[in-house]
Amino acid sequence: MKIKSICCLGAGYVGGPTMAMIAAKCPEISVTVCDMNEARIDAWNSDTLPVYEPGLQEVVESARGRNLHFSTDIKAAIAGADLIFVCVGTPTKSYGIGAGRAADLRYIESAARLIAEVSEGNKIIVEKSTIPVKTATAIQAILAANSTTNATFQVLSNPEFLAEGTAVADMESPDRILIGGEQTPEGQAALEALVSVYAHWVPRERIITTNLWSSELSKLVANAFLAQRISSINSISALCESTGADVDEVARAIGSDSRIGSKFLKASVGFGGSCFQKDILNLVYLCESFNLPEAAAYWRAVVTMNDWQKSRFVEKIVRTLFNTVSGKRIAILGFAFKKDTNDTRESAAIHIVRDLVAENAHVIIYDPRVPTETIHRDLLEVGVPQDIINFNIEIAADPYEAAAGAHALATLTEWDEFRDLDLPRIYDLMLKPAFVFDGRAILPAAALAKHGFKAFVIGKGE
Ligand code: NAD
Ligand code: UGA
Repeated sequence: MKIKSICCLGAGYVGGPTMAMIAAKCPEISVTVCDMNEARIDAWNSDTLPVYEPGLQEVVESARGRNLHFSTDIKAAIAGADLIFVCVGTPTKSYGIGAGRAADLRYIESAARLIAEVSEGNKIIVEKSTIPVKTATAIQAILAANSTTNATFQVLSNPEFLAEGTAVADMESPDRILIGGEQTPEGQAALEALVSVYAHWVPRERIITTNLWSSELSKLVANAFLAQRISSINSISALCESTGADVDEVARAIGSDSRIGSKFLKASVGFGGSCFQKDILNLVYLCESFNLPEAAAYWRAVVTMNDWQKSRFVEKIVRTLFNTVSGKRIAILGFAFKKDTNDTRESAAIHIVRDLVAENAHVIIYDPRVPTETIHRDLLEVGVPQDIINFNIEIAADPYEAAAGAHALATLTEWDEFRDLDLPRIYDLMLKPAFVFDGRAILPAAALAKHGFKAFVIGKGE
């Protein structure tokens, strides 16, 4: 089975970049990325892509118009494809059974119904969205029950492991590609067809093949383990602040043990992003569904620790500012959930700003990539009233404008440009005492002290 034409449902943070990379690496395969969101498709066809990722523009431009197309004509793209990636969203369910934990699979289901309606001949359907174990069974059932032609389907699982901000490098040289398929001759043939797509640029030994359920589960487990490391080091950051130990030194000391490893041990204001919390809650729900309450409680604690890290940061600011921030100006540097992305989903900054304005603070936000409308929308979504957004939130054009007249400044995203701020200038602009709360431990601690700031650094104390 040789793949000549690929279609992808969902032109978001995963669908757009991954398909652009496949198109760039496989010039003989036609790749069409579709979405019903017309504005998003228009943006993919323009010079201002809807996703900010270093290096992405070049990858898109290398293939767009040649063998990479972005379209809202979903049915035509499905009909013409040998292989269909499903890259739609799988947010946490906000209603009914499993609300707040289970994955909402309505977009997966509607994609499967559409595929069944339009398809003829043999199609390979690839789950790239992150989904609960056994979703492939549901997709197979929907396809079988709704196909009106003699179409045949093979469902594969191929979860995506890219991280935002480093997506291009992650896709260019992945640690591994994971593909799960049915243990039947047809399932294995479909699996080999997808392997041959990635083999255009990924060494064969990095392409892991498994059964469907191992592949589906491994994605949730990978995110849970990564998030668990952050919650672990964040729990230790609190202990460091109380004891005088330095969390970066502890991370270095333990991380040089090759069994532990050095990555993902950076203490922070808490992990954000669209997936860690959602996927852990999904894992918790799976454990509960299979009557494993101890396993569920174990993984839930990773999220509980993350929530605590965010709220104790706010508490630290309020207590340090003489137990009140009412009417005080607080400069926030960084709103994205990590550097090098314009994505703010589940960003720690959203919760911290919400809690600060609940204390009547006046918050001035600067982020190099996040537009004002996104910040306003995010705050509205977590319950900040519109009049508070109008009167108590300001957006600044640079860090210095944010710091002007501020009682305190807090770094919430580790943007590189914050590492070399003009500290004497910031100090002059701020009210005194000039309090700094470094939620990412990125500012030069010695220089802060030298220039007169009263600084609190996460995991290091005063
Ligand atoms: P996203 O919300 O950015 O994009 C999903 C897109 O799917 C939306 O534009 C939506 O309009 C579209 N869509 C929904 N139903 C559709 C349909 N029937 N046909 C065509 N388009 C449809 O989401 P995302 O961040 O790209 O995440 C997608 C999936 O990938 C999720 O399951 C997520 O957990 C997983 N994932 C995300 C990342 C990441 O870094 N964001 C990394 C790995 C895995
Ligand atoms: C994460 C995983 O790293 C990807 O492998 C996965 O594909 C993706 O989720 C997904 O499924 O969506 P992402 O959320 O884009 O990727 O970014 P990460 O680099 O993992 O960072 C997540 C959050 O953890 C950020 O808020 C980051 O600032 C925080 N973090 C990360 C820390 O606080 N400390 C660290 O040491 C590392």
